[in-house]
Amino acid sequence: MPNTEKIALVPATNLERRVKRQVWALEHDFFAVTAPGLEELCAAELKALGLTQIEPQPGGVAFRGRWECLYLANLWLRTAGRVLLRLKDFRVHNWSDLPRQAMAVPWEVYLPAGGAVRVQVALRESNLKHSGRVAEEILGAAAQRLASLGLEPPVLAEGATDEALTIMARGAGRRASISLDLTGEHLHRRGYRLDPGQAPLREDLAAALLMLCGYDGQVPLLDPLCGSGTLAIEAGLLARGLAPGLGRAFKVEGLPCHRAPAFAHLQKKAAEKTRAQAPLPIEGRDRSAPALATARANALRAGLGQDLVFAKADFFKADPPAWGPGLVVINPPYGKRLGSVREAEEFAARLGRRLREAYAGWRCGVVLYLPNWAELLGLKRTSQLVAPHGGLKVTLLAGDL
Ligand SMILES: C[S@@+](CC[C@H](N)C(=O)[O-])C[C@H]1O[C@@H](n2cnc3c(N)ncnc32)[C@H](O)[C@@H]1O
Repeated sequence: MPNTEKIALVPATNLERRVKRQVWALEHDFFAVTAPGLEELCAAELKALGLTQIEPQPGGVAFRGRWECLYLANLWLRTAGRVLLRLKDFRVHNWSDLPRQAMAVPWEVYLPAGGAVRVQVALRESNLKHSGRVAEEILGAAAQRLASLGLEPPVLAEGATDEALTIMARGAGRRASISLDLTGEHLHRRGYRLDPGQAPLREDLAAALLMLCGYDGQVPLLDPLCGSGTLAIEAGLLARGLAPGLGRAFKVEGLPCHRAPAFAHLQKKAAEKTRAQAPLPIEGRDRSAPALATARANALRAGLGQDLVFAKADFFKADPPAWGPGLVVINPPYGKRLGSVREAEEFAARLGRRLREAYAGWRCGVVLYLPNWAELLGLKRTSQLVAPHGGLKVTLLAGDL
């Protein structure tokens, strides 16, 4: 039972003042978590949003700015998974550094009184050693801080519930950090893909391939093996200037530090920036009718029903669209997931032959299961990056035909 007498000790106005002073009036250190390999693209996205204090690091991009930067990142980032607020980043001389740092966090401005939290601990050659104790120490510090102010302490979430707020503790060598996940459900879950189809490409990787190709909606685009339509849909979002996070909720919205009017203002501005229609054709093709039905349903849910065209065609037999040349992007079946590796390699070689024969003058982006298959495609002026995808490492390759 909540202790209502104690809760009255910190009146709402007092908490609001604390939030204004300690959150909205200050700059903060944030971290956009990405799949390894996507850091530079994510940094470019943050730069395009007008942010200046940006530093790509392994596994993400550190950035510093006012509270509004968090909302911009949550709303607009296509290549990130989540946005963390760095509460503490410190050197660990001995164990007592952890409770001291954890006690110095003004938890009341971040955690809702009595809210469910989980503490996720990752230690790598850290002199903090015991992850269970790290979690206990942090939760204990937060509980003590809230209780001392007469606020109901947080409760430890049971199991993997989406309701809980995640505090993340990291320890590597002599450094440690405490962060708060302000995103919640992974950013790549844009909400349009209810039916994933077979071997779908994760949305952040699809966006990354398009960015690697320099796609901004100003060239026509074809995905001739579109499956459930992820590449075409991500292209549609980019071409329309649609913020991928516009239709979804974020964890920060339930916290005392949430600045609802600022968030609503940024949502409104994002909605106003959206183009009424993609300026140039975006076409998805597949030889499978069920895949095309899924792609159409996903595109409708993404609000791109008018922008995307889907057609049944076999890539090796059909001619390129009459509107070409443009950008052709392909996520072919890869060995481990569909069929065998050898079949996938032969498929990549056939793709290369067909691309060179029928798509000369096009720009091309391909997802490859093995990096040396790039030779099979024979692209010129290539750029590439490697990123994890469903337990594999895939190569995103961009170049000219
Ligand atoms: C790996 S899936 C593509 C997944 C897609 N990127 C997504 O996110 O859903 C490969 C797709 O290629 C299609 N496909 C295979 N051979 C094809 C061909 N010769 N012509 C057209 N489509 C083909 C399959 O039907 C399948 O949907």
